Amino acid sequence: MYSNSEFLKICDDILSNSDFNKLKFCKHHGITRYEHSLRVAYYTYKFTKKFHFNYVDCTRAALLHDFFTDEVNNLGGFKRLVEHPKYALINSKKYYELTSVQEDIIIKHMFPITLIPPKYIESYIVDFIDDVASIYERIHSTGVQLSGAFNALIVLITGIFIK
Ligand SMILES: [Fe+2]
Ligand SMILES: [Fe+2]
Repeated sequence: MYSNSEFLKICDDILSNSDFNKLKFCKHHGITRYEHSLRVAYYTYKFTKKFHFNYVDCTRAALLHDFFTDEVNNLGGFKRLVEHPKYALINSKKYYELTSVQEDIIIKHMFPITLIPPKYIESYIVDFIDDVASIYERIHSTGVQLSGAFNALIVLITGIFIK
């Protein structure tokens, strides 16, 4: 699903960054943080291109939205949810020039858990896509059988992006 050459070209320098590749060793929703980030970036690419946003900037920010490794390991569960976007932004800015939209996408992707709302529609889009991807990954990694309307809704939403 990630063989789209334009998508790979947009992500190329990030995917070859050795620090970013450390995400391959971080567990995240039953898979790796690298796989999760790639999924969020790909869904973002498909969606934002289709609806004529600046899909290059959005895709790159989506790929970077969880760019952290062990910085939050000593924090409790809730604090970890709140704090990790800050580390993702710090790490991203070490390597890349970010636009204000990209910064907002990364730092606000846990809204409403983090209370300050996004400034841009693009941030809401990536926030939502991150949620959809996370639900999809949790279902697939746990093998939990969800039935009825909820399952149908998830399949519908994820199906839209995967096609
Ligand atoms: Fe995150
Ligand atoms: Fe995420």
